[in-house]
Amino acid sequence: MPATTAPVPDFTPPTDFMPHPTADGSRTLYSETIGEHYHSFFGAVAESEHVYIDKGFRSCVKPHLDILEVGLGTGLNALLTLAEAQQKGSIVNYMALEPFPLELDIVRALQHPEAIGRPDLIEPLEAMMSAHMEQVLSLTPGFTFQKSAKRIQEMDAVKAFDLVYFDAFAPKVQPEMWTVEVFNVLHRAMKPGALLVTYCAKGDVRRAMRDAGLVPELVQGPPGKYKMLKARRT
Ligand SMILES: C[S@@+](CC[C@H](N)C(=O)[O-])C[C@H]1O[C@@H](n2cnc3c(N)ncnc32)[C@H](O)[C@@H]1O
Repeated sequence: MPATTAPVPDFTPPTDFMPHPTADGSRTLYSETIGEHYHSFFGAVAESEHVYIDKGFRSCVKPHLDILEVGLGTGLNALLTLAEAQQKGSIVNYMALEPFPLELDIVRALQHPEAIGRPDLIEPLEAMMSAHMEQVLSLTPGFTFQKSAKRIQEMDAVKAFDLVYFDAFAPKVQPEMWTVEVFNVLHRAMKPGALLVTYCAKGDVRRAMRDAGLVPELVQGPPGKYKMLKARRT
């Protein structure tokens, strides 16, 4: 696989992302300007739980996982992973990319820890969201967290991750995230046998994954979505 560098786009999110209720009672952020949301209106927690925890984290049998999240956003996937890792007794090193970090106040307004029934995780979530870029946090004896302001197109990791949560804005909003160049970057960053999960199931995305050397598979989607994608690096 050629180590191509993906072009760095000039996307900047709009400033009108506001809290919005979703069908399972949890909240997400919605922008009227671009008609885009951080999570599904059919349930923010339900979607994250299904796509990233159930089809991702729970599919990995290794007791020690190096996880990459593309798009930390509101921190919901990181929070659910922390809760699940505690329950399973897994060791997790969590790296999240976020070139456009959110203010803590807007994250607080979403009340994610309360929505997942874990108000005791307010403090660790706030620690993750307010951490400095590149600072390594040991949130529990088994869970370390680090975030980076790098765009995925700039990441140069090699065989570093067992599991990738690919949670970019939709292809209609950020088409440059769903290209073969980006999946080349991810293929290079994944360890042999590693898994990538994403809510998107589009044919073009599947083809781009395949062209990058990944092996995509359509599996049952979260509420409101027929399918989603799991892709392996062989
Ligand atoms: C759908 S949201 C992620 C939701 C998030 N995973 C959560 O649990 O709240 C997409 C995220 O991708 C981030 N993003 C945009 N461009 C990016 C890039 N080039 N590389 C990495 N992340 C990017 C956005 O700032 C946004 O936070």
